This record gives sequence, C-alpha cells and structure tokens, in this order.
Amino acid sequence: MFDESKRITVTSPLLPDQKEFDDLLKDIWASKWITNNGQFHKRLEAALAEYLKVPYLSLFTNGTLPLLTALQALRITGEVITTPYSFVATTHSIWWNGCRPVFVDIDPKTGNIDPDCIEAAITPKTTAIMPVHVYGKPCDTRRIQDIANKYGLKVIYDAAHAFGVEVNGESILNAGDLSTLSFHATKVYNTVEGGAMVMHDPETKKRIDYLKNFGFAGETEVVGPGINSKMDEIRSAYGLLNLKQVDAAIEARHQVAIAYRKALRAVEGISFWDDMPGVKHNYSYFPIFVDEEKYGMTRDELYALMKSHNVLGRRYFYPLISEFSTYRGLPSATPENLPKAHKMANTVICLPMHHELSGTDLERILDIVVNKR
Ligand SMILES: Cc1ncc(COP(=O)(O)O)c(C=O)c1O
Repeated sequence: MFDESKRITVTSPLLPDQKEFDDLLKDIWASKWITNNGQFHKRLEAALAEYLKVPYLSLFTNGTLPLLTALQALRITGEVITTPYSFVATTHSIWWNGCRPVFVDIDPKTGNIDPDCIEAAITPKTTAIMPVHVYGKPCDTRRIQDIANKYGLKVIYDAAHAFGVEVNGESILNAGDLSTLSFHATKVYNTVEGGAMVMHDPETKKRIDYLKNFGFAGETEVVGPGINSKMDEIRSAYGLLNLKQVDAAIEARHQVAIAYRKALRAVEGISFWDDMPGVKHNYSYFPIFVDEEKYGMTRDELYALMKSHNVLGRRYFYPLISEFSTYRGLPSATPENLPKAHKMANTVICLPMHHELSGTDLERILDIVVNKR
C-alpha cells in the first residue's frame, strides 16, 4: 500500500537556502575572518537574544560545553541533583567538573525532575540542581527556585530541547541562574553543531565569554581555567539564515503533533501529552508511551515493527543515564530510587517529528501504530 523504500527518519535537519548561504560564505571569504568573535558571531548572538527574549546570550560550539562551563562559572563543587531521564551529556558535565551527580525521580506528567524528590536528596554537600526541560516541556521552575533559595543552591537548566519555549509569554530560558541550549543538527533550530548559554547580567556574560575562549581576558591575561568553545563564522552565518525559517519549521511540527494526537487519541494503550496551558511549545519531539497490556504489544515490538517498515522511531531516553556502566554504581542510581523514570524509559518511543514530514509519511507511520501491522 505504501512505498516503503523511502526511509522515514526520526528527524531531519532544517537547512538554510543554499544560494543565500553561498552569498554569506563569499562575505566570509572576502573578510578572511573565520572565527574568534567575528561579525556573524556578533550578529547571531544579538539576533538570538532578541528572538528568544533573553537579556544576554553567549554562543558555544555545541550544547555540551556550555553545561561544563556553567558549572565552572558558578564554581559548583560537591553534589549536583539531576535527572536520569535525559541525554547523557547532562550527567557527563557534572562528572567532568569533578562533582557527584545525584539522581532523583521524575514527574510522569512531564518527564521532568520531580520537585517533590529534590528536597529529600539534599545533603550538606549539595551545591546545585541541574534540571532538564525534557522534550522542551518546561520544568516547574517556580518550585525548583523555591527549593534552591531555601537551601542556597544554584540552578543550571539544561535547556537543550527548549529553544523558543515560553510560559505565559516569558522565555523559559530566563529561569534559574543559567540555561544552556543545543543547536545540534537534530534540534528544532540548528547551526550544524552549536549551542548557547543564557545569563541574566553583562558581568556573567563577560566571564562566560572569557571561559569559552581559554579564560583569556585580554592579550596576556588568563582569568580562569577556560576551554575552547567558540562558534566560528561559517556556522554563525548558517545560524542567521536558519533563524529566519525556524518559526515556519515549528509551525510545521505543530501540525504534525495535531495529526498524531487526532489519530492516536482513540488507540487503547498508547498515551501522549497534550500542550500545557499557557505554554508556547516548540514541538521538538513527539514521545508516545506504550502500555504493553492494553496495547497488546511491547514498546520494543512496536519499535521493531516500525523499523521493519523503514520508519525510524527513537527510544529517547532509554536506557536511563543511571543505567550506563559509568554511573550505575552511584548510590542514587538504584532502580528503587527511580521507579517513574524507569517506567518512562521502558515505554517511550519518539515518533518521527520534523518540518518535512508529508501527509503520506504520517499515514504510513500511523498505519503501523494504529493498526499494529
Ligand atoms: C538534554 C540534552 N543535553 C545536552 C545535549 C548536548 O548537546 P550537543 O549534542 O549539542 O553537545 C543534548 C543533545 O544532544 C541533549 O539532548
């Protein structure tokens, strides 16, 4: 019935118009300024700060290094409370800073860290909380901030998925002490590889800009153990062009989410999330959760069935970070400590979600999930 020779991938990168990109490349070639805070870098920082409605933003070369740098900048030590339901870079950044990750369980209503579990995990060594706005769904930032204020903790949000997400008209990226973004090719907005950090004041931005450039505060002065995480001119120019089309891409994703919800609402044993009231979503992912008993098939069986039809879903996030051998030995990594996160990791499939999915693609995907064939 369907042409299955065409592979449907879980995502597809948003690419700028090639001709427009060529024109900008000519400017870069003519200037011979290809990295180190050039004109496109400056323009992209300004344009993103405006688009995202944040006061200050620093570009990075990916979404992992701003996490590492945020912990450095705030001089975080000891224990950091975080979620196991994320991409492994979240926990790696804590480990690379010589801190101990402390996993707490998630709220099944959002997939995000459960504020009710945070307080019980605080010890005299705790200095920070690192929540993740999973799939771009906003964390309960108010409750997390109340806990942080009560115990004098810093909050660094891994907002890798939360590009453009707003709650009641305010950017989610303004919550906490610092937030970080990923502009990886798989994300709603990409610069091929890339990322950013959002901060509240110019002094912090200055310090972060030093840290992402080896700690250099001038030609001969190094003020901290910095790293190299500068975005180059080529990717900055690419990013400027992609910014022009990201709204249309998000709207296309929104339409995909509407179609999925319409078709899946009546399917026994498949659940998913609706939009949250007051939230401007970015539709970066469309996770569904498979109830094996009601659906009559396990998550892995459905995943394999999709694959057999050349439709690639993704078990994102499975396994949990706490299950990787690197972290399994931590006391907080025990499954008994994280029952809700385990359940979500064992039942989730992210369906294909991107701006180029056609009506036929959607029919093909839904035919498998709805009819189990
Ligand atoms: C939640 C989360 N944190 C961090 C990262 C790391 O971002 P990057 O791949 O740009 O380094 C990613 C993405 O890949 C992510 O999904």
